[in-house]
Amino acid sequence: MSDSAPPTILITGATSGIGYATARELLAAGAVVILHGPTRHDADRAADRLIAEGADPGLVDTVGADFARLADVAAMASEVTTRYDYLDVLVNNAGIAGPDGRIVTADGNELTFQVNYLAPYLLTRLLTPRLRAVRGRMVAVSSSLHRTGSINWADPQRMRFYSPVAAYAQSKLTLTMFARAMARTQADVTAVSVHPGVVDTDLMPIYSRVGGPVEEAAAVLARMSWPAVEVVNGGYYEGRLPAVAAPLVDHDGAVARLWKLTYQLLGQGRFVASRAA
Ligand SMILES: NC(=O)c1ccc[n+]([C@@H]2O[C@H](COP(=O)([O-])OP(=O)(O)OC[C@H]3O[C@@H](n4cnc5c(N)ncnc54)[C@H](OP(=O)(O)O)[C@@H]3O)[C@@H](O)[C@H]2O)c1
Repeated sequence: MSDSAPPTILITGATSGIGYATARELLAAGAVVILHGPTRHDADRAADRLIAEGADPGLVDTVGADFARLADVAAMASEVTTRYDYLDVLVNNAGIAGPDGRIVTADGNELTFQVNYLAPYLLTRLLTPRLRAVRGRMVAVSSSLHRTGSINWADPQRMRFYSPVAAYAQSKLTLTMFARAMARTQADVTAVSVHPGVVDTDLMPIYSRVGGPVEEAAAVLARMSWPAVEVVNGGYYEGRLPAVAAPLVDHDGAVARLWKLTYQLLGQGRFVASRAA
């Protein structure tokens, strides 16, 4: 981004909840915002709503990809790469609460693990050259619940023991491990993860408590996603404040094991060539 140009920010899961409200803030601040939805039609409808609420149509773009399909994610990354020379910020916000019963995607993965971790991992890896072009930033929307998470290395897809909260916590733990490892290993990009606060969205029931207004989380995420706002590279934030992440996030052995697993699950180089963060 040059000093005068508005930042270009891709936000996933911008059709509802925190993502939609964050997109509204970023557009109001003058950013070019690429809205992602499960389909382009979903993203276009979100764009129409934002424009009806006052967003400048010239700042809004849309892409679609169902994160339950890794080929969709790769196709979306390819489209963004073709249309944009650089990205200032990628906000990995799309996510689901673990469904009541275990669901397996067409790629063979437990749904929560794929939508909340494997898909954003893949998207980030494929778009890293566009971030690197402008020393860009990846913001991973984590959750304080990641600290309750564990990875059962013998059964990471939770075939033998499945619970919605455990699946969600594991997916957010691995996403947070990824963000810190990316910060450590990738030159010319910054990566952070953030718990945006517990707010009232469709995902709320997994938190088993009353949430605040979605605008509170959107204000946190929009700030974290604004290139001129300094962040600690590799940091984990709760709201606006740096916080302590789960011990596994700094465990070199666990991170190496996660890369090996991720590489296997992404089809041994079918989508990305190497296993490093
Ligand atoms: N709400 C909270 O209190 C809270 C707390 C901590 C962290 N978070 C995190 O904040 C992020 C946003 O969640 P939210 O609370 O705003 O929930 P939300 O309203 O349900 O939004 C989730 C977004 O992800 C999209 N999405 C879901 N499944 C998808 C798929 N298969 N492919 C592509 N996109 C998909 C949704 O699209 P559609 O709506 O169009 O299906 C939606 O845009 C999540 O990562 C969540 O884990 C939320």
